[in-house]
Amino acid sequence: MNIFLTGATGLVGGELLVTLSKRKEVGKIFCLLRSKTKEEALARLQNVFELHDDTFDENQIVPVLGNLFDDGLTDALKSVEELKTVDVIIHSAANTSFSRFNDDLVERANIGGLTKILLWAKELPKLNTFLYIGTATICGKDVKDRVVHEDESPNLDATHLVKYTYTKMQGEILLRQHLRPDQVLVARPSIIMGDSRPVMPRSPVILWAMATINHLRLIPVNEHAQLDIIPVNYAAEAIVALLFAERKHNVYHISAGEAGSTTALKLSKTLESYFDEMPPFNFISKAMLNQVKHWTRNRLAPESELYTYRKYLDYWHDTFQDKSKLRLLFTGLDPYLDFMELGHVFDNTRLLEDVGIANSEPADVYINNSMNFVEKIDVLEGAIDP
Ligand SMILES: NC(=O)c1ccc[n+]([C@@H]2O[C@H](COP(=O)([O-])OP(=O)(O)OC[C@H]3O[C@@H](n4cnc5c(N)ncnc54)[C@H](OP(=O)(O)O)[C@@H]3O)[C@@H](O)[C@H]2O)c1
Repeated sequence: MNIFLTGATGLVGGELLVTLSKRKEVGKIFCLLRSKTKEEALARLQNVFELHDDTFDENQIVPVLGNLFDDGLTDALKSVEELKTVDVIIHSAANTSFSRFNDDLVERANIGGLTKILLWAKELPKLNTFLYIGTATICGKDVKDRVVHEDESPNLDATHLVKYTYTKMQGEILLRQHLRPDQVLVARPSIIMGDSRPVMPRSPVILWAMATINHLRLIPVNEHAQLDIIPVNYAAEAIVALLFAERKHNVYHISAGEAGSTTALKLSKTLESYFDEMPPFNFISKAMLNQVKHWTRNRLAPESELYTYRKYLDYWHDTFQDKSKLRLLFTGLDPYLDFMELGHVFDNTRLLEDVGIANSEPADVYINNSMNFVEKIDVLEGAIDP
């Protein structure tokens, strides 16, 4: 089986690449990389393997230079003779930013870029499967505090918290417009945070949110809302197993499900057991985030409820000194808090039954292995580009 993989340098794609390279069924893995030269691309791919001391085989892993933003990407891919042998495409590349300042880039990468890949894919002589890495959060924000099933999405009436989830939903629709139904496979991971092994996580993106929450300690979020979180190594193993499984469906949640989900409260208990020198966690309503933001601008009315948490305001002042730093942290954290508030649990019955993989350990348990990495995350640095 020859595979064309996009996003191989990313959190999920990197783990997919290494996992795929260990499967005996896999021949070449062509990786789309936005590098200027082949040498640079090879060095980036080598880094993906070096992170966890895996073996990089230059004969198996082949870089293909290209950017989802290139106008000529479809024709460039068509012109590479070797790519005509591809039987499986795994599209993991995406712009995953939640920031509205990146909306245009998100749309260009996740809709425009995908379209270019699809226009090439649909003419491939041997294409068996187009595995699209979607996201379970395309169900939108109208769905709250319940178990969500695969067939509820894509739903054109869903209200999206961020452009990113909207574009990922449109991606699934595009897939079905361009390909035969039997070629379409959609894996929809839930929230991917860190790694369950005691190794350096491939990317600290969502761990940044947890590290920031750990620093702040007074958190405007419902601590009882369910959080469906999985580690990246579980996500990759499940996605690769799905690719080789006898499947009854063409859409699968890659998620913790009811048995493996956690809550902010449970995560806070794990964090408190390591970082016990900070004030204990306290959770306030999400609606109070506005008061926090006003406080950071010295504009909070004297009778405001937030002043009943004076101990935390003093702690923030002592820890961060400059209130603009706190403003930066809360602005970066804001979309994550919105998602945490939704209480989504993504049903994983299809995954467990068809793929035969065990449930993921809850995040409050597996995250014990990452505490020394959490400690090292520079939360202010991460807040600039969360
Ligand atoms: N992380 C999560 O919690 C999560 C949850 C559910 C679903 N997903 C889905 O999983 C997939 C992978 O996400 P991730 O977390 O691995 O993201 P990531 O770490 O940000 O990686 C994104 C990858 O896409 C590549 N890419 C971005 N823009 C590109 C462009 N214009 N041209 C070519 N390549 C480009 C990046 O390449 P560079 O290295 O060159 O930037 C990188 O390899 C996405 O489709 C996402 O929607 C992620």
